[in-house]
Amino acid sequence: MTRYFAVACAAVAACAINAHAGTTIDDAALANEADGRNWATYGRTYSEQRYSPLAAIDADNVDELGLAWYMDLPNDRSLNGTPLVVDGVIYFEGSYNFVYAVDARSGKTLWTYDPKVIEAAGERMRVMWDVSRGLAYWNGKVYVATVDGRLIALDAASGERVWETMTVDPRKALFITGAPKVFRGKVFIGNGGTEWGPTRGYATAYDAETGEQVWRFWAVPGNPADGFENEAMEMAAKTWTGEWWKYGGGGTIWHGITYDPEFNQVLLGTGNGSPWNQKIRSPEGGDNLFLCSIVALDADTGEYKWHYQTVPGETWDYNSNMDIVLADLKYGEQTIKALLHAPKNGFFYVINRANGELLSAEKIGKATWASHVDLKSGRPVENAGVRYEDGEELVWPSAVGTHSWHAMSYNPDTGLVYVPVVEMPGFYTDKGMKLEEWKSPYFGFDPGIDTLRGDVPADAGTGALRAWDPLQAKVVWEHPLPGIWNPGTLTTHGNLVFQGRADGRFVAYRATDGEVLWSVELGHGISAPPVTYEVDGKQYISLLVGWGGTGASMVGSIAAQHGWAYKAQMRRLYTFTLDGAVPIPPQTNPPIFPKPLAAPDFLVDASLLDEGSWLYKESCSMCHGGGAVSGGYAPDLRASPIVLSEAAFKEVVVNGAKRVNGMPDFNDFNDHQLAVLRHYIRHQAGEPQNLGAGGH
Ligand code: HEC
Repeated sequence: MTRYFAVACAAVAACAINAHAGTTIDDAALANEADGRNWATYGRTYSEQRYSPLAAIDADNVDELGLAWYMDLPNDRSLNGTPLVVDGVIYFEGSYNFVYAVDARSGKTLWTYDPKVIEAAGERMRVMWDVSRGLAYWNGKVYVATVDGRLIALDAASGERVWETMTVDPRKALFITGAPKVFRGKVFIGNGGTEWGPTRGYATAYDAETGEQVWRFWAVPGNPADGFENEAMEMAAKTWTGEWWKYGGGGTIWHGITYDPEFNQVLLGTGNGSPWNQKIRSPEGGDNLFLCSIVALDADTGEYKWHYQTVPGETWDYNSNMDIVLADLKYGEQTIKALLHAPKNGFFYVINRANGELLSAEKIGKATWASHVDLKSGRPVENAGVRYEDGEELVWPSAVGTHSWHAMSYNPDTGLVYVPVVEMPGFYTDKGMKLEEWKSPYFGFDPGIDTLRGDVPADAGTGALRAWDPLQAKVVWEHPLPGIWNPGTLTTHGNLVFQGRADGRFVAYRATDGEVLWSVELGHGISAPPVTYEVDGKQYISLLVGWGGTGASMVGSIAAQHGWAYKAQMRRLYTFTLDGAVPIPPQTNPPIFPKPLAAPDFLVDASLLDEGSWLYKESCSMCHGGGAVSGGYAPDLRASPIVLSEAAFKEVVVNGAKRVNGMPDFNDFNDHQLAVLRHYIRHQAGEPQNLGAGGH
C-alpha cells in the first residue's frame, strides 16, 4: 500500500504541493471546532480540547481499524510530540528537533529539516532532554522551537528556513521542550531549566512573519534593586522573602500555554521554584508569586490581567505547567467560560476565565500535602509537617506529579475529561544538607533537596486513565495502566477515547463508559498522544511511538520495567484507517533488560560512594537513570564495559567521544571526579559495598 501511493504521488507531479494550496491556518481556522480535517496546533484548536468532530471511525466500527502505513525512524529516540496535520501533510519532530513533512495518505517523506541541535548546544548539551512536544503552524509556515533555545520558522511547502531567533541566553542552563503557540500573528514560546542553574522564568511573543520580539512576560520578580518591569512584578515581589533573585526564583513556562480568543488573553501555566526547597529560596516563607499559577495576560500587549495560584509557597516541585483546556460548562441555567487544569499537585481545577475565580478543586489522585482547597479563599489547606520542617517527610504526590505534561482531552459530548494520572509518593528530605551554603548548580540537576541518589523501584508508583466529570468533580470510569509513564489522550465525536500505553499497546475506549473496544500491540513504549484528521474524505489516526521523557529517562527501575532498553526497538510513526490492511511490522527486538556486567577485579572504594552518588545525581541521572538503572533513554552504565576502563571512560565523559550520539562532554571534570563516578556506578552494578548514611 505504501508503494502504491508513493507511485501515484510521483505521477501527479508535486501532489503534496497541490494539496498544500488549501486551507489558510489563521485565528479563524484555529478557533474552528467544527472542522475536523486538520490538526493544526498542539491541542488541535485554540481550546486545547484534543476533541475531534470526526465520527467516521466510531464506537461501532473501531474494531475494524487497521494499519494504513508506517514509517521507520531509525535515527530517533524519545518521541513525545503531537504531529500536526494540514491539508494532508503531517509535520512532526524526531530527536533533536529534526523536522519531517510526510504525505498523510502514503507516508512518503516530502522534506526534512535538521536544526543541528548538538552543534548549537554547547554546555547545554548536559541538561538537554531530547524531548519535544510539538511544532506550530501558521499561514504557510511551520515553527520549531529547538531544545537549545532557538525559534525557527520554516516554509511549510519546501522546508526552507525563513527566519531564526535565539529565545534564551545561551550561557544559561535553559532549554525548550514545549510546542510554540501562534495567535494573532505572534509566535509564543517559553522554556525550562529551574533545576539546572539560577533560573527566572519567562515567555516571549515574536512576530510570526519576521521573528521580531513583540513582548516578554517574566513569571517571578527579579532583584528589586534593578527596578521592576511592571506593576505585576512589584506586586509579586511582596510575596517573596530573602534574596530569591540570587537563585532566579523559578517559574519557568515550559508547557501550558493556551490562547483564549473569547477574552483575547493568553493563559500561562507557570513552573515550580528554583530551587524547589522554599527554605533556601524564600526563607521567611511567602506565596512566591507567580510560581505554580495560571496567569492571564492581554494577548496583544502581554499585560497582566489576573492569576490563580494552585500552590502558594511551593516546596515540592508541584508546578502548574500542565495543559490549560478551555470549555463551556453549564452550571444550572448559566454557561460559564471555564478553564480545566490538572497540575502536578493532585487536584483538578475548574476556573472562570472571565476573572480567575475558582469554581471547583477536588482531588483526582492521592494528595496528602493538603486536605482540601477552601473555595472561598481559593487557597489549599495544608496538612501538618508536609513542608519537611523537621528535615524529611513522605508526601503524595511525588515530583513526577499526579498528572504530568501528558495531554488530557475533553469531550463536549460526554462532558468528561480523559486524564492520564500517576499515584506515587515522594520522599522529601534536606537532612544533613547545609542549606545556608547551598548554591545554584552549574549545568547540573540540583533542586535543593536530597533526591534521586538512588534507584526508584518498579513498585514505587502506579498509573491509571481516569475519566473525570468536571461538573460533579468525580471519577466516572477508570482503567489501571502499566507503570507510571503513560501518554496523552485523544477523544472524538465517534464516542471514542484513544491512548497509547507505556507497555506498547495502543487502545480505543468507549468515551461514555470506558469499555475497551479495540487495541493493538506495537512492541515499544508509547509516550506521545495520537491525532486524527481527514484527507480526501477519509478519517485517519496517527501516532508516534518512541519511549521518552523524564519518566523514561530520569527515574530508574520504574522506567526500566518495560524493557525499552537503549536503542533496542525501532521508533515509528503509525497511521491507521478503517480499511487499513498493512500487517503490524514486527519489532527489531523484544523487551530487553540489561544485566549489570560482572567485574570481580574492580574493587569498589566505599569512601568514594557518597561523593559519587551526588555527582552522578547532578550530572548523569537525567539521562542514565536514578541509581544508574537506565530507563532506556541512554545506555545502562551498570552494563557498560567502558566504565571498567579508566582511559575509555575519560574519552567518553571528558573528551566527548560520543557527543555526536547525544552523550555530552564534561571537559571540566578532574580525575578524582571520574573515579568517584566509576566507583559509584560499579557499586550500583552489584559490588557488595555499603553506600553509607546518605544513600537510599
Ligand atoms: C544529556 C544526556 C546524557 C547525560 C547528562 C549523560 N549521558 Fe552518558 N550517554 C548519553 C547517551 C545518549 C549515550 C549513548 C551514546 C551513543 O549511542 O554512543 C551515552 C553514553 C555514555 C557512556 C558510554 C556507554 C557505552 O557502553 O557505550 C558512558 C560511559 C557515559 N555515557 C557516562 C556518562 C556519565 C558518567 C555521565 C555523567 C557525568 C553521563 N554519561 C551523562 C547521554 C547522556
